[in-house]
Amino acid sequence: MTRGSKPALTPGIRYFPGHFDRDAQLALVEQVRHVVEDAPLFMPAMPRTGKEMSVRMTNCGELGWVTDKDRGYRYQSTHPVTGSPWPPIPGTLLELWRDVAEHPLPPQACLVNFYSDAAKMGLHQDSDESDLSAPVVSVSLGDECLFRIGGTKRTDPTRSFRLRSGDVLVLGGEGRLAFHGVDRIYPGTSTLLKHGGRINLTLRRVTGSP
Ligand code: SIN
Ligand code: FE2
Repeated sequence: MTRGSKPALTPGIRYFPGHFDRDAQLALVEQVRHVVEDAPLFMPAMPRTGKEMSVRMTNCGELGWVTDKDRGYRYQSTHPVTGSPWPPIPGTLLELWRDVAEHPLPPQACLVNFYSDAAKMGLHQDSDESDLSAPVVSVSLGDECLFRIGGTKRTDPTRSFRLRSGDVLVLGGEGRLAFHGVDRIYPGTSTLLKHGGRINLTLRRVTGSP
């Protein structure tokens, strides 16, 4: 795929490889480090089964995406472990949203996913938002991953490609509810994070009005 291109399988998906250069990536990592100091990574669990996901997560913004056995997938304004409000979304990410989201309102939530070498994420839709007119804007930092994306039905054909540090992917329009997931991490493919692994940031709007 080329810059900003719309891959044939999934209209509404826009890909900006290398959107953030090395210095910008380092600055983002520093900002994420501050978020994690304030709002520590937690272990999300699947609804009903309580099975732990392999990623660890936290959030920044007025709302954060959380999941646990009893209450399932949802957005809430406080950290599930500390009970504190989430820290604000770093300015660089608000700017990114203004640049690529093509949406008049700012993001309300930024989910921070941390993938260790063996972590992955099954094929899913981002559908817990009550307003789907805004896109999901995703930033990759650190080790490369094999990303899979398909159509809006689970059974639609999928394509896979590597997301690299600094890449930005926008799931909007007809592609807003495209199924996607992370099949694997490629350990040692980036020197950005001192201890390796991959960080993915996803900016979302949750509600229609401010
Ligand atoms: C997600 O779908 O929440 C994360 C996608 C990614 O890690 O690239
Ligand atoms: Fe997702």
